[in-house]
Amino acid sequence: MPLTLEPIPFPPSLDVSHFQDFGREVKGVHPGDVAQDQRLFHDIEDALYTHDLLLFRDVDLTPEQQHSLVKAFDTSAEQYAHGNDHEKAKKTVLHSYLNTIPRVPQVQVIGHGTVRDHEGIAEVTLKHGHHKTFHKTQIPVTDEEKYGATRFFRWHMDAALYNFEPAKVTALYGLKVPQGPPQVVRYDDGTGDELEVPLGTTAFVSGKVMFDALPKDLKSFAVRARVRYAPHPFEWIRNAKAVSTGLGIVSEGAEVPFEDLSEWEEEKRKTYPFLWRNAKTGELHLQVHPMTITDIYVNALPAHITERKGRYPEGGHITDLKEVRDIMYEMQRPGIAPSLVYPHPWKEKDLVLFHNRGLMHTVVGLFREDQIRLFHQSNLASSDRPEGPNEFDIEKWA
Ligand SMILES: [Fe+2]
Repeated sequence: MPLTLEPIPFPPSLDVSHFQDFGREVKGVHPGDVAQDQRLFHDIEDALYTHDLLLFRDVDLTPEQQHSLVKAFDTSAEQYAHGNDHEKAKKTVLHSYLNTIPRVPQVQVIGHGTVRDHEGIAEVTLKHGHHKTFHKTQIPVTDEEKYGATRFFRWHMDAALYNFEPAKVTALYGLKVPQGPPQVVRYDDGTGDELEVPLGTTAFVSGKVMFDALPKDLKSFAVRARVRYAPHPFEWIRNAKAVSTGLGIVSEGAEVPFEDLSEWEEEKRKTYPFLWRNAKTGELHLQVHPMTITDIYVNALPAHITERKGRYPEGGHITDLKEVRDIMYEMQRPGIAPSLVYPHPWKEKDLVLFHNRGLMHTVVGLFREDQIRLFHQSNLASSDRPEGPNEFDIEKWA
C-alpha cells in the first residue's frame, strides 16, 4: 500500500481557513519502518515540515522504533532534548514529568496515574501537568468535577533553552488514554474565552498561524527581534507562577536570583530569533517560550526604509521583565484563541509526530487518580540552531 496523506478531522471550534495545510494522517506506512528506508523517510520528512503534525493510527511501536524515527530527522543528535542529567533536573519545574525508559533513555514515560511493570520500570506514579500546581489562580475543584473545567497547563516547545538546541521533532505515542466526557478549558483572562477539548488532550497551536495573526507593526518587530533565555531556565522559574492561559509567568519577582542557580555559564545561555524559518516551506513560525525569557534584542529597521515608525524603529534592548513579558503576551495571545487551537483527540495506539520548531503545545489537567494516561515521548537535543529570518524575510516584513 503506497503512502497516502489524508486530512485529519478538525473540531467544530477550529477556524479551518487557517489550517488548510495543518496536520495529516499518514496511511500505508508503519512508523517503525521509516528510519530504515531513505526514500520513505524523505517523503515523511517532507510531509512533516509541510503539515507540521503527522498522525499514525493504531500502531504498535517499540521505544527503540520510536527513538529511531525521531533520530532519522536529526542523525547527529544523541540525547533527550532536556539532557539526561536527572540529578540536575530535580531542581526544575520539569522534574516530576520526566521518567526515562531504562534501555532507551531518549524515550520518556509521561502521563497520569500509577503504572506497574512497564518497559523495565517496576512502578512509577506519573503526574500530569495540572494548573493547580503552577498557575497563580485556580479553578474551584467543584467546577472541575462538575463541569470538567480546566486550563491550558503550559504552552511550550520541547527545548532545554540552555546548553542544548531545541528538538526538531517530537514523537508522542499514546498507550493508554483516559475515557470520559470532554473538558472545558477556561482562559480566565477576562475575555470569557473557553474551549471544549477531549479528556486528556494535547493542544497544539501553529507558530505560523501565530505569526500570520500579528498586525503589521508586530510582524515588523518580530522579524527584527531576538529573545534571550535565562540560565537554567526551568530552575529559574521553579517558584514562579503562571498566568491563567498557561502562556507566561506572572511578574511578581518569584524567579530564583541568577546567583542562586546551579552553576552556569553565559556562553551556554540561548538567544534565538523570535521567528524560526521552516527549512522546507520557508515560512516563518513565531516560536518563543514565553515563561523563560529574560530580555529582547531588536534590530533597527533597514536603513533604506525612510518612514521610521512602528515598534522600536531604531532597534533596542528591552530588559524590563514585565515589559518583555507583556510584549510576548500581546504577540502570542491571539494565536491561542479558541478558534486557533487544535486539541488532539487521542485514541490508544496513536502516534503523533510534530514539528517542534513550528508549533507550541500544552497538556490540560487530569484531576482524578483513575484517569490513567500512559504515553511515550521522544525527542532529541539537536546539533543545529533554529534558522531565523533571512534578508528576504526582513525586506518583506520589516
Ligand atoms: Fe512538550
